[in-house]
Amino acid sequence: MCGIVGYVGRSEAAPILLDGLRRLEYRGYDSAGVAIVNGETIETRKCAGRIANLAKLMTERPPAGQYGISHTRWATHGKVTDENAHPHFDHSGKIALVHNGVIENYAALREQLVREVGHKFTSDTDTEVLAHLIGSIYEQLDGKDSKARLVNATRAALKQVIGTYGIALVHAHIKDFLVGARRGSPLVLGVGKDENFLASDVSAIVAHTRDAVYLNDFDIVAVSRDTFEISSVGGDTGSYQISRVEFGAEDVNRGEFPHYMLKEIFEQADSVRDAMRGRLNTEECTAKLGGLNMTAAQLRDVTRIVLTGCGTALHAALVGEYLIEQLASLPVEVEYASEFRHRNTPMSGNTLVFAISQSGETADTLGALRESRRKGYRTLGICNNVASTVARESDGGVYMHAGPEIGVAATKSFTSQLVILTLIGLLLGRMRHLSTSEGSLIIEALEALPGQIESVLKLSDHIRAIAKEYVSVNGILFFGRQFNFPIALEGALKMKEITYLFAEGHPSAELKHGIIALVRPDLPSVFIAPDDAVFSKNLNNIEQVKARKGPIIALTSGDGRKQLKGIANDIIEIPRAADVVTPVLTVIPLQLLAYHMAVELGLDVDKPRNLAKSVTVE
Ligand code: F6R
Repeated sequence: MCGIVGYVGRSEAAPILLDGLRRLEYRGYDSAGVAIVNGETIETRKCAGRIANLAKLMTERPPAGQYGISHTRWATHGKVTDENAHPHFDHSGKIALVHNGVIENYAALREQLVREVGHKFTSDTDTEVLAHLIGSIYEQLDGKDSKARLVNATRAALKQVIGTYGIALVHAHIKDFLVGARRGSPLVLGVGKDENFLASDVSAIVAHTRDAVYLNDFDIVAVSRDTFEISSVGGDTGSYQISRVEFGAEDVNRGEFPHYMLKEIFEQADSVRDAMRGRLNTEECTAKLGGLNMTAAQLRDVTRIVLTGCGTALHAALVGEYLIEQLASLPVEVEYASEFRHRNTPMSGNTLVFAISQSGETADTLGALRESRRKGYRTLGICNNVASTVARESDGGVYMHAGPEIGVAATKSFTSQLVILTLIGLLLGRMRHLSTSEGSLIIEALEALPGQIESVLKLSDHIRAIAKEYVSVNGILFFGRQFNFPIALEGALKMKEITYLFAEGHPSAELKHGIIALVRPDLPSVFIAPDDAVFSKNLNNIEQVKARKGPIIALTSGDGRKQLKGIANDIIEIPRAADVVTPVLTVIPLQLLAYHMAVELGLDVDKPRNLAKSVTVE
């Protein structure tokens, strides 16, 4: 939610800041803006709407200068208007600031600034209040070293702030200098040669440098062309580590694909392979997950598991519940991360909590993770973003290694999460009752997945034809049982997010308990009915819909096709796989169905209405 980029170096800042914003547009696209210092003047261009609008403004009136800041907004406080677009300025107009996060006490601070120093505000944002507060303190501070003065003013202002922030700011009279700080919202320092960068996410700067410092909460960084200094809001000197980013600029490009979402759907054979690479122990028919930081004895002592996350990650958790209970016979509970903190979930000392998050920055998931740790439970992360907050604040975990996911609708991260949860189930199962031969079957099923995914991806044209057939419907229902019930939820979520169609997912058997009242000839039902242990039960439900003239799209495998012939209007056939890994294969056609429907409807697949990736507000 909101992306920020800062640059100080010897090159013109405008193209670097604009390119960085394009890479961060997945974080929000309500408005965008830049502030670049030219001599002692700050040149600002900002407007409501997509980055393309900002790019047009910048072409008409190119801002010159070699350092500056920029922002792409997902609106929280204040409507989507040019005035509310970042950067925002202090009272003097000399300090420009961009912000990702929420200043919760902004109203009180604003009132104080109006009352005590007569400040006037031009926007409805919480960010402008922070800019004014920093400016007001800067004016009151003494000292010849204007850089230190700006850092100290920022520090003093942030001490008064309640809320979250990832910020970058410049001062018109302080040459070649940026200040950044974070609390609760990500901020990365990119370390270059005679140039340095700030960004919400390394993908914005990886084209320029792969050396990055992932800042910690309460870090303040003073950045010049050839040096930087990290301290804390409390005033201590900070320690840091320069990490090498594991992907390059080519990984954040769309390549020949029209959308990131399609590219990421098609990357799943590789991302699934990467999720299990080096983690299969074929000799002992188990999994190797060293990042959990737990001994075999500790893992054996676990008596209960809680899986938590939001949205797509929560759906992976729901599959994980079936998986771990089946493979390891351990009780598993799935908790909406956003609700976890507000419930008195009874937890025993041997409960192990997994926080699942692609970005590793989702505020609700972080809240659940912190609550769990506060109560003394070992809490592990399953994340994609290396060095994300979830990764850093967990006691251990498993990285997805899926590569950057830029499409707002999560796709490849979901299948990686499913693979990791299967590995966790396998590891815990093999320490308990699961036999060598059962373990070996799971490993075989996992190893077969990348090839099977390649076959599923070949169905894209067939699925596009189905999407064309149903493009004028007003809604779609999704049904599945057992491991594939959460896939019905995920199929419906993908459909809602990018086509804006009404879509619901349910366990197939729930039909007769109420949902069947919705069935009519213009409302299609997608049944996820692979040839598995519950196929015949799914078939009964399919017949019930058919009897009421509801159109049926059936996703099946093995003998399913034969049995569905003449019943389903459309059949999507995937390879037969072991029941536990089937969700990895069944979800891909649903991702493709949502994708092709959205394209047929002429919608912006990668930037769906009202959404942003990485939801860093509660
Ligand atoms: C759905 C989607 C969201 C995210 C959710 C959690 O396509 O992208 O529902 O899954 O916001 O995000 P992470 O996994 O980053 O915590």
